[in-house]
Amino acid sequence: MHFLVHKTVLLRHSLLLIVAAVLFNCTNQRVTQSSIADRGYIADKAMVVSAHLDASRIGMGIMKKGGNAYDATVATQFALAVCLPVAGNIGGGGFTVYRTASGETGTLDYRETAPGAATETMYQDNNANVIAGLSTDGHLAAGVPGTVDGMVKLHQKLGVLPWAEVVQPAIDLARNGVVLTQKEAAGLNSSKEAFLKNNKHIPYLVQKQTWQKGDTLKHEDLARTLERIRDKGREGFYAGQTADLLVKEMQRGGGIISKQDLANYSAVWRKPIEGNYKGYKVISMPPPSSGGIALLQLLKMVEPYDLRTYGWQSAKEIQVITEAERRVYADRAKYLGDPSFVKVPQTQLLDEHYLNERMSTMQPDKATPSSEINAGQLPGYESEQTTHFSIVDPAGNAVSTTTTLNGAYGSKVVVEGAGFLLNNEMDDFSVKSGEPNMYGLVGGKANAIAPGKRMLSSMTPTILEKDGKLFMVVGTPGGSTIITSVFQAIVHVLEHDMTMQQAVAAPRFHHQWLPDVIQHEPDAISAEVRAILTGKGYKPEQRGPYGRIDAILVLPNGKLEAGADPRGDDAAAGF
Ligand code: DON
Repeated sequence: MHFLVHKTVLLRHSLLLIVAAVLFNCTNQRVTQSSIADRGYIADKAMVVSAHLDASRIGMGIMKKGGNAYDATVATQFALAVCLPVAGNIGGGGFTVYRTASGETGTLDYRETAPGAATETMYQDNNANVIAGLSTDGHLAAGVPGTVDGMVKLHQKLGVLPWAEVVQPAIDLARNGVVLTQKEAAGLNSSKEAFLKNNKHIPYLVQKQTWQKGDTLKHEDLARTLERIRDKGREGFYAGQTADLLVKEMQRGGGIISKQDLANYSAVWRKPIEGNYKGYKVISMPPPSSGGIALLQLLKMVEPYDLRTYGWQSAKEIQVITEAERRVYADRAKYLGDPSFVKVPQTQLLDEHYLNERMSTMQPDKATPSSEINAGQLPGYESEQTTHFSIVDPAGNAVSTTTTLNGAYGSKVVVEGAGFLLNNEMDDFSVKSGEPNMYGLVGGKANAIAPGKRMLSSMTPTILEKDGKLFMVVGTPGGSTIITSVFQAIVHVLEHDMTMQQAVAAPRFHHQWLPDVIQHEPDAISAEVRAILTGKGYKPEQRGPYGRIDAILVLPNGKLEAGADPRGDDAAAGF
């Protein structure tokens, strides 16, 4: 029954979405734009699902040449830095979660760090008021970029093709130029003023006339930067000419990233957060992302409730999930931060008794106001833009990667002569205790700024296993909504029998403790359910679509199904 319900909603929702387009590239592998079909694009053995068709094709091409999923990750990430300037990056950072064909798991953290000269109150004036815009726009908003070191380390440990070979396709793409989609042209146009304001000289992302769909954008300086990375690896970015250009850019705009900060930057291998939900093993990102802990907390909190019988986005399901979400985000605000600087009580936060206890204050008849929820008492304890891609290779290695500039086009600062945008990730720190950041998230001491510290993230690249075999690769952008979107995609498949494509396309809702509202996409909550929820004291608020989930599901016959989010230009490529 629940299946029929969601299908009707999806069909209604889908009227707004792009019609499926099946394209063929020169070697005749099938490549699809995100589709509204019940099933996503299906490939026999290898697949990349990313936010841009060019990037998915490049990743697939690397695997066709004998590269593995890790080589394809590097190639896709650098390609996204070219064809998706709004979020793809070399001037930002991110996380990769992987599971090898033989079942070993791991994660790589290449999150940005606060520069050495950063201070806890650097975004506050003398009266301790937050200075608007300082942590979000311009040079001071940028953390020390981590992506390039991350890609180098990932490739060194797990790649098989030569480094130059995996970087080269992005260089070619940058030289030949990228044909702008409607969304990318609109994004560049709407950021024109911000680009002009935050750069001393007019950056190449601005032209006199407005950008149109179909225009070709060439990235000459970025091509040269990528060549230095191709030829010198890490040193091609963190030293030499690129470092000179970056530090000069900082001096031009009053930023504080130094040569020493660049030299000091180092990506870190971390043990994944792992747990079980009804027999599925969930593998996700540990701190400095809040994603893995929060996702597992949510799954464990709802596990005792029969969501399947409640029905998809029924009042009962939305209530249980909302109450879990507000409690999880309250914990996030208090306890989570960079584990090198704060002791994160990971074990306690994931303890089943603790989580059941937290849910025990839920009342069936009425909402628990967020003002009555604080972070749990633990024993012994004192914009839009990010991008996700999922990859599976012919051997069965799986990689889940989310990387970000934070807001759209990050700080809007293009490093002059180097052709890449810098992140505005510093805003992910709690710039003042209790003060909401650009996603409305609050935090405190655990996520306060300190030199060299990583800012807390919500990015949740995740892999699921069933019976010891790969089952799903999933993740999304969306700031604070990342965790709940990944959670819902999993619930859609496991509890409501959706296909991967349906699970990605289905309209979503989100609660993050503060503000105390259920944000939801159009069609996510029916009029009837809204009336029930409102009657219990919940506050549903419709907002625009969010998230761009790109996921892969392993079907019972071993083939791979793509879920490419129809909210963006997301596309799958495989063979
Ligand atoms: O790391 C984080 O949680 C944020 N910087 C992610 C930003 C994001 O997803 C924006 N995209 N819509």
